[in-house]
Amino acid sequence: MSPRAEAIAEAARILQAGGLVGLPTETVYGLAANALDGQAVAKIYAAKGRPSFNPLIIHCHSFEQAAELVEMNADARAAAEAFWPGPLTLILPRKAGCAVSDLAGAGLPTLAVRIPRHDAALAVLKACGVPLAAPSANKSGALSATTPQHVAEAFGDEVALVLAAGACTVGLESTVLDLSGDAPAVLRPGGVTAEEISEVLGKAVLYDHSDPDAPRSPGQLLKHYAPSIPVRMNAVDLEPGEALLAFGHVKFMGIRGGGAAKDLPEESLKNLSEGRDLHEAAANLFSMMRTLDRPDHKGIAVMAVPDTGLGVAINDRLRRAAEGSAR
Ligand code: TXA
Ligand code: MG
Repeated sequence: MSPRAEAIAEAARILQAGGLVGLPTETVYGLAANALDGQAVAKIYAAKGRPSFNPLIIHCHSFEQAAELVEMNADARAAAEAFWPGPLTLILPRKAGCAVSDLAGAGLPTLAVRIPRHDAALAVLKACGVPLAAPSANKSGALSATTPQHVAEAFGDEVALVLAAGACTVGLESTVLDLSGDAPAVLRPGGVTAEEISEVLGKAVLYDHSDPDAPRSPGQLLKHYAPSIPVRMNAVDLEPGEALLAFGHVKFMGIRGGGAAKDLPEESLKNLSEGRDLHEAAANLFSMMRTLDRPDHKGIAVMAVPDTGLGVAINDRLRRAAEGSAR
């Protein structure tokens, strides 16, 4: 095997085993993990030090692979035909049964997908056989990484491997194009312009961003998808009718007026992590909230999650859910 083929096989092995790889793309280096593996995705957020769970871009090697994850429409087909592989990310509705972890998509009903125009990235994607979640490989708030040295300096031992492939040719993040709404909208300007997209689609493409890195405010988005029933944080006991989202053991948690939380039926009790593992909790957060979000529950009581490491992002999301659901 050539050194390059060996490095690609090694990257694929690490990704399949749930590790992080610094992945070159034509835009910027990505911090990649298996998008189907919630705990691997949790490592991305932990390493980036993101204070909240922003939805991540899911990288694919082919249109067919992307089409397994999202509902393609005519505009998506045209844009993909013209710009993939390349620096264009498409926001589309998640397919029913889409296997991407809820955490990678931050619990949203839409998903960001793109095919990078980079031989090494495509080779890794084909070798590992799973779609890869990859935000830009920089610490939260820092500049994007366009060389392997940037990635190594920022993350050190936190990434198992940085696949070095020199400087990125585009050097600027992909354009994020939302095709899930009534009209195409650019949420983040990037390597492909709205004018170019407009020409291909034969229709107007809006710019919809206030701050280049806060497109259509992920904050607003997240709030929008708050559960439909009230969420109560830092619960130490339960009110009758409430479901429990636990963290750690629930042996001693009582229900006001009588009863124990541990005896709740399965559909009313989910545990983010019995062993109090924040990575496991992050991976479970969105799907468990969704499971407990049922009209026959009066609300969701959530046990306290420590406000350190990934717990900061978990608490941020829970606070948004608590505020959003209280509207
Ligand atoms: O060029 C790039 O796009 C690089 C390389 C590594 O591919 N990746 C990148 O990822 O810049 P990241 O996570 O730093 O930026 C992803 C952007 C964020 O602005 C996020 O809010 C937006 O995409 N995004 C992801 N999913 C979304 C969704 N479902 N709805 C709206 N915006 C979404
Ligand atoms: Mg970024």
